[in-house]
Amino acid sequence: MALEKTFAMIKPDALEKGIIGEICKRIEEANLKIVGMKMHKLDRPRVEGFYAVHKTKPFFPQLVAFMTSGPSVALALEGENAIATWREVMGATDPEKAAEGTIRRDFGTNVERNAVHGSDAPETAALELKYFFDQNEIVQYEWM
Ligand code: CMP
Repeated sequence: MALEKTFAMIKPDALEKGIIGEICKRIEEANLKIVGMKMHKLDRPRVEGFYAVHKTKPFFPQLVAFMTSGPSVALALEGENAIATWREVMGATDPEKAAEGTIRRDFGTNVERNAVHGSDAPETAALELKYFFDQNEIVQYEWM
């Protein structure tokens, strides 16, 4: 299996709950390395650009309002099968449908306030990482 990178975000509801540490712990327990990390309060154009694929969805205005409501943390993750691994650790989009022991099941409030985001494929991972990180903001990790 090849080493992969993926993009993750810890959303404003999770910051409000004070669980950045718990989420990072679960990332590390899944044998993923955090190779980039940035906290920011996103403005509307940045969120609209990030979620452009959902622009026509009925929930889009609410999604933008929520994601601009407070600070969030952008993460670059690296590991074997990182994209699928992170999606497994997160759980399904809707916390009610997420498997037991996943972040969204344990900490999500509803389908909008679902604590975390993760890229769904190699192409989106590359795009999303580039959207938030310059190349020199992602460290080269020496795997043993
Ligand atoms: P995320 O993985 O960040 O990708 C798109 C986000 O849109 C998703 O998580 C949810 O937070 C949000 N979303 C998806 N479906 C709905 C919905 N039906 N109502 C509100 N928000 C949604």
